[in-house]
Amino acid sequence: MSNPLRAAVVTGGGHGIGLAICRRLHRDGVPVVVADLDGVAARAVAAEIGGTAREVDVADEAAMRALVDDVERDIGPIDLFVSNAGVAFGDGESGAVSREGGLNPVDDRWDACWRINVMAHVYAARALVPRMLARGGGHLVNIASAAGLLSQIGDAAYSTTKHAAVGFAESLAIDYGDLGIKVSVVCPQAVATRMIGIEDDAESMDGGFGGNDVDGIMSADEVADIIVDAALSGRFLVLTHPEVATYVRRKASDHDRWIGGMQRFREKLKG
Ligand SMILES: NC(=O)c1ccc[n+]([C@@H]2O[C@H](COP(=O)([O-])OP(=O)(O)OC[C@H]3O[C@@H](n4cnc5c(N)ncnc54)[C@H](O)[C@@H]3O)[C@@H](O)[C@H]2O)c1
Repeated sequence: MSNPLRAAVVTGGGHGIGLAICRRLHRDGVPVVVADLDGVAARAVAAEIGGTAREVDVADEAAMRALVDDVERDIGPIDLFVSNAGVAFGDGESGAVSREGGLNPVDDRWDACWRINVMAHVYAARALVPRMLARGGGHLVNIASAAGLLSQIGDAAYSTTKHAAVGFAESLAIDYGDLGIKVSVVCPQAVATRMIGIEDDAESMDGGFGGNDVDGIMSADEVADIIVDAALSGRFLVLTHPEVATYVRRKASDHDRWIGGMQRFREKLKG
């Protein structure tokens, strides 16, 4: 890398896509901070790559500020912050085709999705944008989902909050992109991680659920390479699964028709 990053933080770096991003950044010679609610996993990943572990709840703004303060004091300016930690619960006990839908009665699932999938990105930006502006640049990479552009059948809270995450990244890019702050938002479809029932580093990618694996499940390593390459090249929208661009175009060209297609797809998943 011609202009090495002085420090990178990856939230949710203990597992899945975050773990793979940590490994990739380490291979690129970047000092990596693995930040995760799961402190055991964060420490294991940090030990593997010679990085630094931080046990942190991204939904806690004070903890996020402390993370940024500590890293910048002890390691160096955070040139790259990857807001990757995310959660998904499904609409109800019956999974992908539950009729509870957006009416999910378990309110704190909505709250957890809102705080972790959206507000954590806001907290990272609040802590870092002033610092990055003062030193003339930096890069915020926010992992959303294809569900933030389309919809995740069977998980209204996930779909809604991932849309919000895309909206927030757009605002950041519009407000600060011309002031030296690079912003990327990543919208994958299915990736072989615990989120879809596949353990870290599993040999087999079986286990995808519902419509999630409609275009095939990618490995976390493949996705991490695409994310890091595309983000560092300055791309705003990073689509790991190319089909998503086609679906977004179809949705934009006739939203009503797209809803009808999704209803039929949902019926198929039920069957
Ligand atoms: N796996 C997929 O199919 C898929 C598809 C699209 C988008 N995504 C997104 O990619 C990101 C990573 O997901 P993944 O598939 O690797 O899932 P994962 O469950 O394997 O990993 C998520 C990580 O986030 C951590 N985490 C959860 N809540 C946290 C909190 N409050 N504070 C700190 N860390 C927390 C977990 O401990 C875990 O290490 C998420 O934002 C997810 O929504 C995943």
